[in-house]
Amino acid sequence: MKSCNLLLLTLLTLLGSVSMQAEALITNVDHRETTSLAGKWRVIVDPFETGFYSYRYEEIKNRDNGFSMDAKAADKSALLEYNFDSSGTLDVPGDWNSQREKLFFYEGTVWYRKKFDYHLQPGKRLFAYFGAINYEAIVYLNGQKVGTHTGGFTPFNFELTNYLKAGENSLVIKADNKRRSTAIPTVMSDWWNYGGLTRRVLLIEESNTFIRDYHIQLAKDSMETIAGWVQLDGAEGAQPVTVRIPEAGITQTVQTDERGYAEISFDADLSLWSPDNPKLYRVEISAGEELLEDEIGFRSVQVRGNDILLNGKAIFLRGICIHEESPLRPGRAYTPEDARILLEWSKELNCNFVRLAHYPHNEYMTRQADRMGILVWSEIPLYWTISWDNPEVYSNAVQQLTEMITRDKNKASVILWSVANETPVSEQRTKFLADLTKVARSLDPTRLITAALEAEWPKEGIAINDPLGAYLDVLGCNEYLGWYGSTDPRNFDKTWFTKYEKPLIISEFGAGALQGYHADPDTRWSEEFQAQVYERQIPMLDRIPFLRGTSPWILKDFKSPRRPLPYFQDYFNRKGLISDTGERKQAFYILQDYYRQIESGEGDSAR
Ligand code: GCU
Repeated sequence: MKSCNLLLLTLLTLLGSVSMQAEALITNVDHRETTSLAGKWRVIVDPFETGFYSYRYEEIKNRDNGFSMDAKAADKSALLEYNFDSSGTLDVPGDWNSQREKLFFYEGTVWYRKKFDYHLQPGKRLFAYFGAINYEAIVYLNGQKVGTHTGGFTPFNFELTNYLKAGENSLVIKADNKRRSTAIPTVMSDWWNYGGLTRRVLLIEESNTFIRDYHIQLAKDSMETIAGWVQLDGAEGAQPVTVRIPEAGITQTVQTDERGYAEISFDADLSLWSPDNPKLYRVEISAGEELLEDEIGFRSVQVRGNDILLNGKAIFLRGICIHEESPLRPGRAYTPEDARILLEWSKELNCNFVRLAHYPHNEYMTRQADRMGILVWSEIPLYWTISWDNPEVYSNAVQQLTEMITRDKNKASVILWSVANETPVSEQRTKFLADLTKVARSLDPTRLITAALEAEWPKEGIAINDPLGAYLDVLGCNEYLGWYGSTDPRNFDKTWFTKYEKPLIISEFGAGALQGYHADPDTRWSEEFQAQVYERQIPMLDRIPFLRGTSPWILKDFKSPRRPLPYFQDYFNRKGLISDTGERKQAFYILQDYYRQIESGEGDSAR
């Protein structure tokens, strides 16, 4: 950012009219020159936000007792009641709950501090990139507020160039995971409120003008025309940009406008990406001295009547829901290894599809899904009881949706953007979400829009007539027949119907079981009980004429504050097909066989 712009921004900030919100996202960090700040960070647990507010509850600005200053006692008589250098540490990336027993239930502020040396060459710019911080982050460099970000599951970056010192720098972050009724998600959710710097933190050095973002995918409804755009950052007038796909014999040079934006469109003879052929092309984007590579798959996804079409062919989505918890250790997943194992478990179930619930997962998941040929439902955490009539909540939703789509809009595996999960029907809710679907389509016209709705239960059967359905391409619906409410098996004989001629994904069904607990199939929490629910679901699913996918709840047991039942739950939601220690339950094999029949076209469930 040029010094004059910074002056303007500083003035506006001083006037309080700019909230220092996150800047436009830098995408494809995996293929950029970056410096990782992973490792041990000094931390101060600050439940009363002493490092941010005075005793009169006013924000401390530019005074040494503000923790952002990372100050030291000037002499032996000086009073300073914090010291990062003698404070404890936490590993970054990683949630704090699983790193310290005392932080297991902690909801509040933790201050993080990392010192780093940096020598920025003239004509270069430096950015700090965060994979995610849950939930609200304030970022400071050398005592100056660089910016704030709200939302716990999407990436953001801030330019550090004009705050940087030659030599040692102090990066301080205030991370606050307190739940709020005006947050997204709101105060109630069925997953652990893991706080902190839960994903990677990178320094990204770029030239004054660099390739910040681009959309390079097959045009909507096409299987041979690639369309999209390239956006430079810091452009100084119009300039040429070249897109190459060497293996497809493509070289296209276009001229940007004054703002560094250029649209692209060209035909290509491609091997289309699919679960059976997860073909990724090396794509090279160059502008001036810069060359940026990416690995991009090209495929078409559409709906036609009740069908979902992948590359023009009807497909059935054999899915499973996944929460972002590591399969290897307690806490948030954030490594390539975590992603590989979770997706390999899904493949073992004969899945070609995963629903990444209930928030955008880390980018290793969508990169790995691209490589493994697994289709993805990606969603923002507009979950249950959101404050629908609050304009700030709507702009937060737009921001989180934009960050999710911006990061993954070139990932072939992602075919569905979901805007909500089990939100009670009301006029404000439907308008809020309908408007959001329009924003999603404007950001990315190539993918399908969905949401996990709730069914209605008239005497005729089970209906999906939620007004939000009119704005979706694909209907999602969660149902817990056999678990919540009556366990009468006759409920599975019900007929499903809808007023929409659209594909349906049963986006959740299932039951809980403690792995290793065995009893008769009517005894709650036994593996046999869970298995019986799965066995009873399948004939019903086979009878739904507009069903085009299922993603049962859920791959692995996961932590939830809403599940305190001693012995059977112990703060775990036990609907996993795999236990929290990686043991498969009986129902795992029932689903695995169901999907084998669908995939092979043999057996009662062949499609
Ligand atoms: C809901 C919700 C999940 C929750 C599940 C359950 O459908 O979408 O987030 O964990 O039910 O009750 O286990």
